[in-house]
Amino acid sequence: MKNFFSVADAENLETLVQDALALKANPYAHETLGKHRTLGLVFLNPSLRTRLSTQKAATNLGMTVMVMNMDKDGWALETQDGVVMNGTTVEHIREAAAVMGEYCDILGLRSFPSLKDKEADYTEDLFKKFVKYCGVPVVSLESATRHPLQSLTDLITITEYKKVAKPKVVLAWAPHVKALPQAVPNSFSEWMCAAQKDGMVDFTIAHPEGYELSTEFTDGATISHDLEGSLADADFVYVKNWSSFNDYGKVYPVEENWMMDNQKLALTNDAKVMHCLPVRRDLELSSQILDGPNSLVIKEASNRVLAAQVVLKNILEKLE
Ligand code: CP
Repeated sequence: MKNFFSVADAENLETLVQDALALKANPYAHETLGKHRTLGLVFLNPSLRTRLSTQKAATNLGMTVMVMNMDKDGWALETQDGVVMNGTTVEHIREAAAVMGEYCDILGLRSFPSLKDKEADYTEDLFKKFVKYCGVPVVSLESATRHPLQSLTDLITITEYKKVAKPKVVLAWAPHVKALPQAVPNSFSEWMCAAQKDGMVDFTIAHPEGYELSTEFTDGATISHDLEGSLADADFVYVKNWSSFNDYGKVYPVEENWMMDNQKLALTNDAKVMHCLPVRRDLELSSQILDGPNSLVIKEASNRVLAAQVVLKNILEKLE
């Protein structure tokens, strides 16, 4: 593994998941692998779980960690080439990324989409430039279109808690008050479709009309506009809001009740309920579920350390 950006960077899903679960049993098995290696975590947007779990994972491997809150503490970044920088931007990504690459052996980058410029977001313009100019391996801490550390965590968590060999997993759209990116559902779908091809899950996406994800991420998924029908026999329900991909970044009003609650949970096979967090209580997901025995959200967040640690371990093993 050189960079970690999408499911394509995982050579073998089953092996990666089992390696991660082995780290749960013995978190300090590789505590000197990262000695004298530095991880730089660069945030252009807020984070709780990604920030702390990746720091903990790197520390478990013996790495030194530096965190740069670029949005608050860095110079305003220019990302376009060929512009005269006589406006508000102070430093070009060419120099900023290259300098951070001088200080670090591995870099992590979080950079959300604009939700305004679909082409720039979906070509991952900023992320690709950062990789190009920094010159060291890069781990996505969530990019414009994907959140691979979250999705790997989700596959680890499903594998850990499944009661049948091939569980039915439903990605269920949920309401929200804001326009949210498609990165988490794109990425979850991409990983679940790959896991389905490997015989690990049976995958369905349920969303209202108008909330179709890009087909780039949904190859092989069963897609439905019927939430209650989709929930039948579900072993895992993954709740998430996202804004429209086709009418980019738009939020359509939805008349029906799409919030996951105990009434809907009763339609499932006593499903475990997942959410990447942060979650809006009693808007996306009911408090009854979040505080009840079917919620996996805290265990899922805990497993973020395993995903980050197995990815960093893979990259460290390839460093010269
Ligand atoms: N799920 C997740 O990525 O959480 P943060 O945004 O808090 O890092």
